[in-house]
Amino acid sequence: MIRNKFPSLLILAGGLLFSAGISAQKSPAIIASLKDVFKNDFLIGAALNTDQIEEKEPNAAALVPLQFNAVTPENIMKAEIIHPGWNSYNFDVADKLVAYGKKYKIKINGHTLIWHSQLPAFMRNMKDADSVKKYFIDHINTVAGRYNGKVFSWDVVNEALNEDGTMRQSIFLNKLGDNYVTEAFRLAQAASPNTELYYNDYNNEQPAKRAGCISLVKKIQAAGVRIDGVGIQGHWHLGKIPLKDIEESIVEYAALGLKVMITELDIEVLPRNFQGADVNRQMKNDPTMNPYVNGLPDSIQQQLASDYEALFKLLLKHKDKIARVTFWGVNDGQSWLNGWPIPGRTNYPLLFDREYKPKPAFNKVIELKTKNTAPHK
Ligand code: XIL
Repeated sequence: MIRNKFPSLLILAGGLLFSAGISAQKSPAIIASLKDVFKNDFLIGAALNTDQIEEKEPNAAALVPLQFNAVTPENIMKAEIIHPGWNSYNFDVADKLVAYGKKYKIKINGHTLIWHSQLPAFMRNMKDADSVKKYFIDHINTVAGRYNGKVFSWDVVNEALNEDGTMRQSIFLNKLGDNYVTEAFRLAQAASPNTELYYNDYNNEQPAKRAGCISLVKKIQAAGVRIDGVGIQGHWHLGKIPLKDIEESIVEYAALGLKVMITELDIEVLPRNFQGADVNRQMKNDPTMNPYVNGLPDSIQQQLASDYEALFKLLLKHKDKIARVTFWGVNDGQSWLNGWPIPGRTNYPLLFDREYKPKPAFNKVIELKTKNTAPHK
């Protein structure tokens, strides 16, 4: 069979442009598809908010199924939303997400079963260890059980480590002890045998935290419990993508028999005095902290493009070990980095701009697969 080696070109209604600086205002524009050009390499995902899951944003509703074949819910499967009371669960939007995935053949990554943040009010300050244990077991059994085989994968445990690789203080560590991560995977495996199970963290490409992450994985494996993959969140900074650390991490995690994923990719272009994604950290606001309210200078736009290009080049080099690359959001306008660690900033971390138009970074990433590809005869 003769197959076209070029990526499929997709017609997108709504004036999305192939951003070559050409104004094509009203005519439907043609843009390449990330999921298509990388289809033999890895899945391409995005985090979706509630409106996007419910297809209430027309631009996202058109764009997501064309560009992405994996989706992670940005918030709606987190414990505070899905499990607001002892015996009260709110599966409404999560069920819609499963239906959305089915409709568009998009793989759903459940995010996340056990995390220290966005916990339900009823258990956040629980003092009694037996009650925390009951919550832990009930939560995993009920939520992972309901979506067994309906979501492709779960981030079973999120962010259990400190920067130095030791275990992070949390209600789970304090009340359940440091085997809680293994126990979470054991419960998830039993409740959801047909779902892949991952550990997810930020900065776990950095050497000390990576070493802690490797020990954690080995401990789970030594207990005879299944873990299928590790997610490197990938909240990185302009001009400072830690390519060497990322490469070493991909190789070392894969050597444990795990799938490796970049799970929450975005590139911070605004001033920030710390790395990583500790949601509890805040920074003081002042006007110098929000420099690009009226648009991104071209030099920064180009740097963002070359950062994304270098990163995807590395990921392609290790495509045999990388299962998925997920962006934390679809477009710049709805990125969480507009609100964290300083509320109300104007940030530009993703491949699509506020009008859902592809940015130069999008083109650079696509070109890694399309440039210099000889036409198939
Ligand atoms: C963020 C969401 O994007 C925000 O909307 C929410 O207010 C806080 O959480 N690491 C994670 C994600 O694993 O769940 C976080 O998502 C970002 C950092």
